[in-house]
Amino acid sequence: MSDQDNKNENEVEKVEDTQVEVEDTKKDDDEYEKVCFICRRPESVAGKMIELPNNICVCSDCMQKSFDAMSNGQIDYSQLMNMPGVQILNMADMEQNIPKQQKIKKKKEGEEKKPLINIKDIPAPHKIKAKLDDYVVGQEYAKKAMSVAVYNHYKRVATDTMDDIEIEKSNMLMIGPTGSGKTYLVKTLARLLDVPLAITDATSLTEAGYIGDDIESVVSKLLAAAENDIEKAEQGIIFIDEIDKIAKKKNSSQRDVSGESVQQGMLKLLEGSDVEVPVGANSKNAMVPLTTVNTKNILFICGGAFPDLEGIIKERLTKQSSIGFGADLKDKYDHDKTILEKVTTEDLRNFGMIPEFLGRLPIVFTLQGMNEHMLIKILKEPKNAILKQYQKLLALDEVNLLFDDGALEAIAKKAMKKDTGARALRAIIEEFMLDIMYEIPKDDSIGQVTITREYIEGTGGPLIMLRGQDVARIQ
Ligand SMILES: Nc1ncnc2c1ncn2[C@@H]1O[C@H](COP(=O)(O)OP(=O)(O)OP(=O)(O)O)[C@@H](O)[C@H]1O
Ligand SMILES: [Mg+2]
Repeated sequence: MSDQDNKNENEVEKVEDTQVEVEDTKKDDDEYEKVCFICRRPESVAGKMIELPNNICVCSDCMQKSFDAMSNGQIDYSQLMNMPGVQILNMADMEQNIPKQQKIKKKKEGEEKKPLINIKDIPAPHKIKAKLDDYVVGQEYAKKAMSVAVYNHYKRVATDTMDDIEIEKSNMLMIGPTGSGKTYLVKTLARLLDVPLAITDATSLTEAGYIGDDIESVVSKLLAAAENDIEKAEQGIIFIDEIDKIAKKKNSSQRDVSGESVQQGMLKLLEGSDVEVPVGANSKNAMVPLTTVNTKNILFICGGAFPDLEGIIKERLTKQSSIGFGADLKDKYDHDKTILEKVTTEDLRNFGMIPEFLGRLPIVFTLQGMNEHMLIKILKEPKNAILKQYQKLLALDEVNLLFDDGALEAIAKKAMKKDTGARALRAIIEEFMLDIMYEIPKDDSIGQVTITREYIEGTGGPLIMLRGQDVARIQ
C-alpha cells in the first residue's frame, strides 16, 4: 500500500470517529432541556424554543424582543457589515457556549412516576451502622444517630407523602473537636449510600451579592451530584462542614455578610421551600441558568468543631453550681472529658448561632475527643487503616512490616500531645516511615521489618529480619 492510501484510510477513520461523537452528543442532548441562548431560561420555564442552526435555541420572548429592537432602532444593519472591524458572527462558535453542566435534565413525561427507592431495599439502621463500623472507630452515639436519621430519610423519600401523616425531616448538627472524624464519618456514609450527597463548606458562603458563593450554591452542588436531575436532587443529603465558621461575629460594627446573614439565608433552605438555584455555578448571574428546587425532602447535616464551646459550657456549669450551699470548686470541670456532651442550645447561642437556625436542626449530637486507646485502634483496625496501607506498600516488595504494641502506644502518645485528634497520626507516621521506605528497597535480602517503641522514641532502630532469618538492627 502506498503512503497516500494509508493517509486516506486514516482520514476516513477520523471522519467516522467524529461522526460517532456528534451522534453521542445528540443522544446526550436529548436528555437535557433546551436553554434559551439569550436569557438562559430552560424550556420548561420560557416555553417552546425556536431552533436555530448549530443547536442554538432562543425563546419566543427573546426572539420578539430582538425583532422589536431591530425594527425600532436607528441602525442601518446593511451598513454595519462594511464597517472596519466588524465581523460576521460565526454561528458554529456559539454552539459550545452553554456547557452541559448548566443544563437541566428533562422531566420524563408519560413515564409513571416511580419512587427512586424501594422500601424493601432500605438498609436497616443496624446495617448502616455495621458498615460505618468497618471504617470509623468509636463515636458510637454519632454513628447510631446518623444511621437512624438516614434510614428515616430513606423511608420518607420512599413513601413520598403519607396521606395526612407527613414524616418531617430531622436535620442534624454534629459537634466534635478537630480530628474526631466528622468529615470522615459523612464521607464514609456517602460511599455506602445511593442517594446523591453533596459536601460543602460554610466558610466560602456569603450573603448574595457579595464576593463568595451564594447560599443556594449548596443546593447547586447537590444538583450536580444528582447529574442535574432535579427529582433526584430533591431527595438527597447535604452536608455543610465548618458550620461554626458562620457564627455571629461579636462586637462587629460592620455588616456581617459571611456570618449571621448566611445563617439567616440558610433558614429557608433548612426548613424546606422552593429555592432558585444557579445550575452549574456558585452564584447567580446573567450568564447562568436558574432552576427551582424544593428542599423539603433534602436532609441537612451540619458539622463543626466549635472551638471554645467547651469554655462556654464550663462557664455556664460553674455559674450554676457556685450558687447556694452546693457550690463546687471552680476548676471542677477543667478535666472533664465529656464536657462537650453537656451542650445545650443556650451554649450554642452564646457561641454565635442564631436561635432560628438552631431551631431548624432538631438533632444535636457530639463526637468524642480522641484518647490514646482510640488512636491505637484507628492505626490498625479500620478497613483502610494507615498501617495496613504501609503494609500493603511494602508487601509489593515482598517485605513483611510489623509494628509491636509498644510502638503503637508511643505513636498514640505523640499524637495526643499535638492535640489535633486523629489528624496527628498521619504526620507522625509519615515522618518515621520515610527512612524505612527509603532504605528497605535498597537491600533485597531484607524479609521483615518490625517497628519498635525505641525507634519511635528515637532511642533505637527498627528490628530487621533477613530472608535467612537472622535478626539485625539498623542503627
Ligand atoms: N473515628 C475515626 N475512625 C477512623 N479514622 C478516623 C476517625 N476520626 C478521624 N479519623 C481519621 O482522621 C482524619 C481526619 O478526620 P476528619 O477529617 O473527619 O476530622 P474532622 O473531625 O472533620 O476535623 P475538623 O474539625 O478539623 O475538620 C480522617 O481522614 C481519618 O483518617
Ligand atoms: Mg472536617
